[in-house]
Amino acid sequence: MARIISVANQKGGVGKTTSAINIAAGLAKSGRSALVVDIDPQCNATSGLGVEPAQRHPLLAGKALAESVVETSQPRLCVLPGSQSLADADALSASNRQRASTLRQQLASELSHFHYIFLDCPPSIGQLTRAALGASGEIYIPIQCEYFAMEGLSQIIELARQTKARENHRLEIGGIVLTMYDSSLELANEVASEVRQYFDETVFETLIPRDVSISEAPSHGLSVLDYAPRARGARAYTELVMEVIDRE
Ligand SMILES: Nc1ncnc2c1ncn2[C@@H]1O[C@H](COP(=O)(O)OP(=O)(O)OP(=O)(O)O)[C@@H](O)[C@H]1O
Ligand SMILES: [Mg+2]
Repeated sequence: MARIISVANQKGGVGKTTSAINIAAGLAKSGRSALVVDIDPQCNATSGLGVEPAQRHPLLAGKALAESVVETSQPRLCVLPGSQSLADADALSASNRQRASTLRQQLASELSHFHYIFLDCPPSIGQLTRAALGASGEIYIPIQCEYFAMEGLSQIIELARQTKARENHRLEIGGIVLTMYDSSLELANEVASEVRQYFDETVFETLIPRDVSISEAPSHGLSVLDYAPRARGARAYTELVMEVIDRE
């Protein structure tokens, strides 16, 4: 059975897509098969892995999902491409509960041969994120080490709590990822320690530093692990992946 993990936070630009891509890439390097499912109409996870967005979102295309899975340039790392069509975004958002259970069934029955499936969510607590949480066993929440980080965190955690209580009892908070960390900023240190105080061991030990290689990699359609394996960012994501594996 695949481990299905939503990467979500309603705050934009906190490193959801970057974390989904690079954690999946690191797991693939460790010998596990990993699939990134792009449910964000921005399609950043799709293009960041060097793949073209789909005309029709695979979850709506009406054919077997496995047929829409695209292999990336890295072995064992695949993507289910997103679609930029607004009509598709609307259709995917419709009827939340039904969508969540359909999504869960589709992933479990058609793509269960992957070890890991990451759902890269859009920056909202709207229906797409809700459906993703309804279909997942875990949520990973990336947060940027800056002011307001905690406020956003409480909303997404509340949504996860509600989803668990109402429709998906299996959902757990799998981890909080501290991203774009700059140790020279006092504020970043304060935020990191505040989040740790509050959420304790849920927070991954590894701090993902702000590193230009991480932001350049997607324009080459590569994870940072392939784009700049020696960069600080690549080393940090590799360490984070070790923690993910430790939590298996
Ligand atoms: N550790 C990092 N160091 C430097 N740049 C980073 C880092 N993490 C992410 N970025 C850059 O920050 C921007 C936002 O990251 P990303 O797209 O992963 O966030 P997101 O939460 O998925 O955004 P959205 O909410 O729009 O989906 C991107 O340009 C990305 O390349
Ligand atoms: Mg994103």
